[in-house]
Amino acid sequence: MPGFANRSLLDIEGLTRADVERILDTAEAFLQVSRRPVRKVPTLRGKTIINLFYEASTRTRTSFELAGKRLSADVINMNVSASSVKKGETLQDTCRTLQAMHPDVIVIRHGASGAPNYVASKIDCSVINAGDGMHAHPTQALLDAFTIRRDKGTLDNLVVTIVGDIAHSRVARSNAHLLKLFDCEVRVVGPRTLLPAAADSLGVRVFDDLKTALDGADVVMVLRIQSERLEGALLPSMREYARTFGIGPRTIAYAKPDAIVMHPGPMNRGVEIESLVADGERSVVLEQVEAGLAVRMALLYLFAGEGAEPPAVGEAD
Ligand code: CP
Repeated sequence: MPGFANRSLLDIEGLTRADVERILDTAEAFLQVSRRPVRKVPTLRGKTIINLFYEASTRTRTSFELAGKRLSADVINMNVSASSVKKGETLQDTCRTLQAMHPDVIVIRHGASGAPNYVASKIDCSVINAGDGMHAHPTQALLDAFTIRRDKGTLDNLVVTIVGDIAHSRVARSNAHLLKLFDCEVRVVGPRTLLPAAADSLGVRVFDDLKTALDGADVVMVLRIQSERLEGALLPSMREYARTFGIGPRTIAYAKPDAIVMHPGPMNRGVEIESLVADGERSVVLEQVEAGLAVRMALLYLFAGEGAEPPAVGEAD
């Protein structure tokens, strides 16, 4: 299997099943590092990681920063709102400027689909896509896969139902591509106006009835309505959406009794998910957050630190 060093992670389509398994197996080691009393290893000492977030983020930005710091890398968080981007600097000039500082990895979130691909074509270091427009969120799909594999013991042949605003969701797209590598049956359900036009190319089954879509589901993935990406009135009202497609104690009963409930966050409680489910025993929302840190540590290690010693029990700075 080819290594990851100096490669970029732009979408899931660039990964093989073996790549995904290697990332998840590596993340298992880093999960244990994060659970130790001393949560730091010297693996990326002397390496530089730049986090470049053009869109808001809580989980992804914080976990990439923490991942780099726990690996002992130098981590720079560029505050785009306080940068020369506000003075009209182009993405190309920003990237060329950062390139001159010789980073090892640039992590980028951008509102425009394809921005990370553009950056990767302009500079030499590894680029990791932390979410671009409606295109892809590959590290979210990897952390979701890690969470599912830990709970179910496997990723193979599961029934995964993704509920909500599929059309505007980079999370849904990346998850669909990853889960198809493991022969999962991926179902999407939501209002017709929020279902993808090109469902065939995603390889998913499309439903507009929640009960049918949840029947036999092992995993229920709930998505937020992406209000910031909606053009025009695609929904009659949030109240009607909640009544028809919201996941609560009544509707989650349509899935398998041991089905887990996932949400990438941020959650709109009372709209796509009720608190009784979000905070209930089937919810793995906080496990997803913990997985995000482990998976991002694994990615930084594989992309910037291959050849360095992997983490060992008891190793600390
Ligand atoms: N899931 C996710 O990408 O969350 P943030 O927008 O908070 O990073």
